[in-house]
Amino acid sequence: MPIQTISTTPFADQKPGTSGLRKRTSVFMTPNYVENFVQSIFDSLEGFKGKTLVIGGDGRYHNDVAIQAIIRIASANGFGKAMVGQGGLLSTPGASHVIRHYKAFGGLILSASHNPGGPGGDFGIKYNVGNGGPAPEKITDAVFARTKTIDRYLLRDAPDVDLGTIGMHRSGEMVVEVIDPVADYAALMQTLFDFPAIANLFANGFTMRFDAMHAITGPYAHRILEDMLGAPKGTVVNGIPSPDFGGGHPDPNLVYCKPLHDLMMGPDAPDFGAASDGDGDRNLIIGRKRFVTPSDSLALLAANAPLAPGYANGLAGIARSMPTSAAADRVAETLGIEMHETPTGWKFFGNLLDAGRVTICGEESAGTGSSHVREKDGLWAVLLWLNILAARQQGVDEIVRDHWAIYGRNYYTRHDYDEVDAGIANKLMDDLRAQLPQIANTAYDSLKVAYADDFTYHDPIDGSVSGKQGIRIGFADGSRIVIRLSGTGTVGATLRLYLERYEPAHGQHDLDTQQALSFLISLADRIAGIRERTGRDAPSVIT
Ligand code: G1P
Ligand code: ZN
Repeated sequence: MPIQTISTTPFADQKPGTSGLRKRTSVFMTPNYVENFVQSIFDSLEGFKGKTLVIGGDGRYHNDVAIQAIIRIASANGFGKAMVGQGGLLSTPGASHVIRHYKAFGGLILSASHNPGGPGGDFGIKYNVGNGGPAPEKITDAVFARTKTIDRYLLRDAPDVDLGTIGMHRSGEMVVEVIDPVADYAALMQTLFDFPAIANLFANGFTMRFDAMHAITGPYAHRILEDMLGAPKGTVVNGIPSPDFGGGHPDPNLVYCKPLHDLMMGPDAPDFGAASDGDGDRNLIIGRKRFVTPSDSLALLAANAPLAPGYANGLAGIARSMPTSAAADRVAETLGIEMHETPTGWKFFGNLLDAGRVTICGEESAGTGSSHVREKDGLWAVLLWLNILAARQQGVDEIVRDHWAIYGRNYYTRHDYDEVDAGIANKLMDDLRAQLPQIANTAYDSLKVAYADDFTYHDPIDGSVSGKQGIRIGFADGSRIVIRLSGTGTVGATLRLYLERYEPAHGQHDLDTQQALSFLISLADRIAGIRERTGRDAPSVIT
């Protein structure tokens, strides 16, 4: 089957963001759009001839079409083998594991994560390297440069591969192995967690609801929670992946998981509630009458991880993204282990994990994970919680309160302003940046500013420097205001405002979060003029 050289012209907008290239599905459906980007990735890589490429996605609309195109391009470019999840499906952490487990050269993950899918939704492509993690900026910068000059792509003239049938297929000379998307991942989970103890929990009447949000974790959760751990059928809801996520928004937050939240706060709440996002890397954890913020969840998981067999020897260190609350820092301090603050985006954890400097990582955006893969991992967080619940024989609320009593509570919220005019958002950030030296020397009522800067990360492993990662205004009492622009939005700009206040051990831990942070919320607006400049009188989403 011959290789065709197809001429093309560059698209100006193929700059990978926080997590690969994300655009409206309609943009990805433009002729040559997928082909240009994928060929640009391959043109930026070296040494993959004859090697293995892992391919899979969250099953959203256009997944199937894009995968067939990618297989033809990979074959024409000389990959020896493609490993593809059956039906084109692989969760993001599942893909990361497959890359690592089979020592693949890298992988392409097709998803726009928690963004809606369908013809009017979003689509995305992300390249992960051989350690299973997102490509570092060195590669994504090279890919972007290539997209601006590309004039041809290579295509194998071969028929579609039958992705419905597990086993060996071919596209030209390239072998295409269709694999069970769940099996390897489930086996990995069994090495980390005490499955008999969790199964025992369910056998003794422990109840749970897992909302797969019509997205990729459905098959994983059915298999692991219901088939392997014995949770009653019906524990997993919305468990069949659909191309438009059942018309929903597969973002496991309190807005889009309102039915789960309402259930957990109501009289018929099960013991434990959880959800995951479009591609399976995020998690939402809710106990009976207790929502656990992702920042608290990170701290709690780190403090209790040694209860799970895979972490019985303790943690090397913890890492969190800069806007994530400092709750985990207090755990690291108590344990006497390393703590790292990195820019937003999972790719910044890769070097620390590879070097064995940290074991658990997390982001405020519902992302938690560990050294078992190089992506955040929604079901992993759920299973670690279950392992902790089984070992401690306590409820979620009790465990959370105990944690605050020991470490103190970091009240924390994020306010998002979506689809703001990009010019206005950039000007807001520029003006704020210009004010930072002045802000650094100010006190607002009784709050004295301790530092005001635009976060720059110095990677301790490879020495790389990433600047302009978000504006931080820190106060003497440990409170913080952080403002940054999203790198994953697909329309206009998304302004994210993060607010945090520390209440020490045995302090007041029962305040309403928005009330506890009300002074900081109005102060942030006073300093940055968000409402006046954007013309919005409230955030689009509060988490
Ligand atoms: C968002 C989250 C970030 C996460 C990323 C990918 O990025 O804030 O923590 O890593 O999605 O899931 P942002 O849109 O803020 O750039
Ligand atoms: Zn995701």
